[in-house]
Amino acid sequence: MPASPTALIMAAGHGTRMRSSLPKVLHTVCGRPMLHWVIEAARAAGAGRIVCVTRPGDGVAESLPSGVEAAEQTEGEGTAAAVLAAREQLEHRAPVITLSGDHPMISADLIEQLVAAHHASAADATLLTTEELDPAGYGRVVRTSDGTVERIVETKSTEGLSAAELEIREVNLGTYVFNSEALLSALDQVAEERGERYLTSVFPILRAGGGAVAVHRTTDVTSAMGVNTRIGLMEIEALARDRLIEAHALAGATFRAPQTIVIEPTVEIGADTEIGPGVALRGTTRIGDGCTVGPHSTLIDSTLEDGASVVHSYLVEAHVHAGASVGPFAYLRPDAVVGAGAKVGTFVEVKNSQIGKGAKVPHLSYIGDADVGERANVAAGNITANYDGRRKHRTAIGDRARTGVHTSFVAPVRIGSDAYTGAGSVIVEDVPDGALGISRPEQRNVEGYAERVDTEPRE
Ligand code: UD1
Ligand code: CA
Repeated sequence: MPASPTALIMAAGHGTRMRSSLPKVLHTVCGRPMLHWVIEAARAAGAGRIVCVTRPGDGVAESLPSGVEAAEQTEGEGTAAAVLAAREQLEHRAPVITLSGDHPMISADLIEQLVAAHHASAADATLLTTEELDPAGYGRVVRTSDGTVERIVETKSTEGLSAAELEIREVNLGTYVFNSEALLSALDQVAEERGERYLTSVFPILRAGGGAVAVHRTTDVTSAMGVNTRIGLMEIEALARDRLIEAHALAGATFRAPQTIVIEPTVEIGADTEIGPGVALRGTTRIGDGCTVGPHSTLIDSTLEDGASVVHSYLVEAHVHAGASVGPFAYLRPDAVVGAGAKVGTFVEVKNSQIGKGAKVPHLSYIGDADVGERANVAAGNITANYDGRRKHRTAIGDRARTGVHTSFVAPVRIGSDAYTGAGSVIVEDVPDGALGISRPEQRNVEGYAERVDTEPRE
């Protein structure tokens, strides 16, 4: 039984071609930093220990999930310098899986295949290659006449390269398994080229020392793709999104316009749920069975229970119970809880409030810090005046209460069960159960007003 491998993820350096103040490996793919995708894959492939090479002060070490170690690259440039920064963590006999932090779609399956190939060949190093990508800019695999790997030629700059070298289609994917002892002693012999030390320089050194270099060639293009520019990032994001959506589709969700969806890997979706065009599903959003979401809605860290529907709306940390409907054009803010079968309609904002079972808030209202009872009806344009300039206060609206249009609730205030409020009322005092609360100036009609205005001379 071979020792459980260590995964070493090279993640230092800024990636100048991204034109960004953010380190390249922290750019996100479907909401998750590229580096975290690689960490997940390494973990799923059975790496016992995961070490990421970072630069001091770039913020990458601070972003690492728990259990993942950082090794600071304080000196030297290039991928060989990166691996040497983790020398201490590699001084043992387990194999080292070396991964690049800018290959976010590498799959656990492919890493496992590479490890298996390494064990089968008993080589000092096994590298992952493909012939399926546009080889421009990648390191090309130069083979000897007997077909074994001689060296890798970098093609980021094509200056001084031979036509034969540029014709090679097989590219190095920057993903390897090494015997750690052989790797460390070869690295000590790597010379500087153009101010950098290349990890790929170890292959001729290993060969010269009598070691073997094996290859595992893959056709899994998605896993193989690296990110060097924001164009590459867009391509990867599209592939990652397709992967996530396909998994949800196989589990029973329908996507009407998959190319228009933004989705993160932490999202859950039930069966027979329909996701319309322009929907963004982010964070820990959980959607039950038989729901309708979209068109054009954003759900962040929100929950929809079975049969709920959300149309043209924006939800953050909200909970919508079974069969409730939200939108079009609703804004549910943190701790908005919409009860089973309830309705939150057009241009309604709800924050830190409970909307009772079967209650309705259909039009143009702000409900903040309120408890709306079961089957209550909040008429158009109702506003909770929940903030007195210093503190927030709650409004309670009882079960089956029916408020009039344009009611303001000056909190703290309570409307009883089965109570009413008159249209245009500013409610500052509690309304008892079953009562009508009404507060507005009496109407006065001025007879003959129009005629009188007409006779006055105009300026
Ligand atoms: C590298 C390979 C190339 C391969 C390609 C696959 C070398 C010399 N070349 O080139 O053969 O085709 O990957 O994508 O290895 N890094 C550090 N410290 C450094 C420099 C880089 O940690 O000093 C990290 C980067 O964060 C990145 C990874 O190493 O995640 C690869 O570095 P990058 O500069 O992107 O290498 P490529 O030029 O793409
Ligand atoms: Ca790269």
